[in-house]
Parts: sequence; C-alpha cells; structure tokens
Amino acid sequence: MSHPEFLPIQWKSTHLSLLDQRALPGKKEFLEIHTVEDTIVAIREMAIRGAPAIAITGVFGLTLGAKSKSGKTNSEEVDTLIKQVFESRPTAVNLSFALKEAKKRIEGKTDWESIQKIWESFALEMMVEDLKANQTLGENGVSLFPKDQSEFHIITHCNTGALATAGHGTALGVIRSLRDHGKKVVVYADETRPFLQGSRLTAFELMEDGIECYIISDGMSGWLMNHKKIDAVLVGCDRVAANGDTANKIGTYNLAIVAQEHNVPFYVCGTKDSFDLNLKTGDEIPIEMRKESEVTQFDFLKTSEGKYLLPEGKTAPIGARALNPSFDITKAKFIKNFITEFGCFVPGEISSRLKKV
Ligand code: MRU
Repeated sequence: MSHPEFLPIQWKSTHLSLLDQRALPGKKEFLEIHTVEDTIVAIREMAIRGAPAIAITGVFGLTLGAKSKSGKTNSEEVDTLIKQVFESRPTAVNLSFALKEAKKRIEGKTDWESIQKIWESFALEMMVEDLKANQTLGENGVSLFPKDQSEFHIITHCNTGALATAGHGTALGVIRSLRDHGKKVVVYADETRPFLQGSRLTAFELMEDGIECYIISDGMSGWLMNHKKIDAVLVGCDRVAANGDTANKIGTYNLAIVAQEHNVPFYVCGTKDSFDLNLKTGDEIPIEMRKESEVTQFDFLKTSEGKYLLPEGKTAPIGARALNPSFDITKAKFIKNFITEFGCFVPGEISSRLKKV
C-alpha cells in the first residue's frame, strides 16, 4: 500500500540533499550538502538522525569526500577520511558497521574516482536494503499482535520512522504494517526530551500518514498504563549488546521499567546492523554526551549561525493533540522480544539468530 512518506536523504549525483529535521515540524527545509565536512556537521547537529539514516548519510559523506579528491590515494588517506565520519556520533553501531563495509569494498583500489563510484553505489544499495529490511521487520512485528483484535494502543519513544531510516521505519514500521493490515492503531508518542523527536518528528510523521497519535510527555507513560489498556511499547535501538542490553534514546529505560510493572509487552525493533556481538553487555556501549544547552534551552531550534528555525517556538505540528495529566505515581522491570527482519526472538536467542543471518 502506498502512503505519504518522507525522503529525508536524497542523493542528487553531484551532492546530498537532507531534510533538516531541526526545522520540523515547522518547515520542510532541505540542506544541500556538497562536502564531507558539511555531512559531518549535519550528523553531529542532528539535522539528520536515527541510527540507519546516520549510517546511510555517513557513506554518502565518504562519497563526497572521495569526490573532492583526484588521482591516486593510499590507505592512510582513506583511513583519515573514514575516521572523520566515524567520529560524528558514537552510540549507534550502524555507522561503524557501514564504514567497515565501505572500507572492505574498496580493498585494492588506489584511485579516488573508483573509490567514489564504489561508495556511491554502496550508499544507494544501503537505502534499498534498509527499506526492504524495515518492511519485513514490520510484517514480522504484526505476527506478535492478536489477529482477532482490531484496535491497538501503542506507546513509542523517540522517532523510528521514515525520517530515521530509508523508509517505513522500525518501531513505526510495525505500526505502519499493522495499519496496512487494516488494524486501527492509536499511538502515544513520548515527546522525548530534550530533542523532542517524539513530538516534533513522530507526531508529524503519523499525522501525515493519518495514524491517530497523542503526544505525551516522557513522564506520563506510568499514568497512561494505569488508566488505559496499552497493548505494547515499541521502541527502536541504536546498539544491542550480545546479552540483549539495548542502547536507545534517553528515557527508553524508564519506559521499559514502567511497562514491566504494568505487564505491557516491551518490544525493541531493529535491523541486523543494530546488533553488536563484539560487546558482551550494555556497559560497553559508548554513550554520547551532548551539549548541556540542549537540556536548558530548545537549542535545536536554531542553526549554528544562531538563526531560530521554528516560529514562535512551536514544537508540535499545528492541530496535534496532546494529553496532559499533571501527576502520576511511579512504580518499579524489561524486553519481551526483539523484532527484526530475521524474525522475533527473546534476548537469549540473539547470538544464535544472528549467526544464521
Ligand atoms: O539521537 P537520535 O534521534 O539519532 O536517536 C534515535 C533513536 O534513538 C532511535 O530510536 C534509533 O536510532 C533507531 S531509529 C530506527
């Protein structure tokens, strides 16, 4: 079924065009990016974000880096370029896997022109593969929901949709697939402080897609699970260690604890490139520390030149609905299943499942 989706990453042969997610939902503004340096800034400043989208953009960045050079090269020069992109954002493992693969694909190549072509087609291939994987993931996720139930109420955190991927999305992909199966889905989107990916991006995507959505602030999920039957929590992931510990946007852990207390199944959705079997537990996952000002002011609302992007500080789409309970009672545990393009499974099965992919 076709639905309006977004093309946050567009390759224009000569350059990269990125939908500036800092300006959403106010404006659909595109950044025209011609250099690897500007690609890195766009990733670091979260004009583009979401683990799969970061990885794809990173490889287009490499392509632009290679394009700016000519003649012969050597592995030292190539490594410097790759390292620059690698350092843009540390937590999501997708970028690191993509850069390793990018390096493998140019083995034996000594001229920038061939390297550029290989990286360009790799990035384009990643886009096709990610979209396919998300669609399969979405279908796999549907199998976890009772067939005879026609309506589902789902809480999600951050933004895991078309804006964060090459299309369809992971956690939002399952929601889109449920809708494609004729189910009514009501989504409660954690606003996701401090960058507001939930209220600015998830609500925006769901509204454009015609899926009923209520923004809740991050502290409201306990109240909501106490007052409404919630069928599932669906979140994405930035890196999953071999034991199943999962890094995802700040606030995911709190939500998992609340879900456990209320017997609400907590599902983590991600493709194979989110699983890092080199790490035994989540303690080894590097956690990105960002600027304090993102917490103390709405810092993403302005560009690096200090220009504010959203009129009147509006952080939700016009017409977006919200719930606003002022108090809740916090109770005190986690991941029922991973939902991937290679099936749904419990944390203890990660290694055996990944070996077969
Ligand atoms: O800081 P962000 O916006 O890049 O964080 C995004 C998330 O945490 C997503 O849940 C994750 O990357 C999966 S996106 C399919």
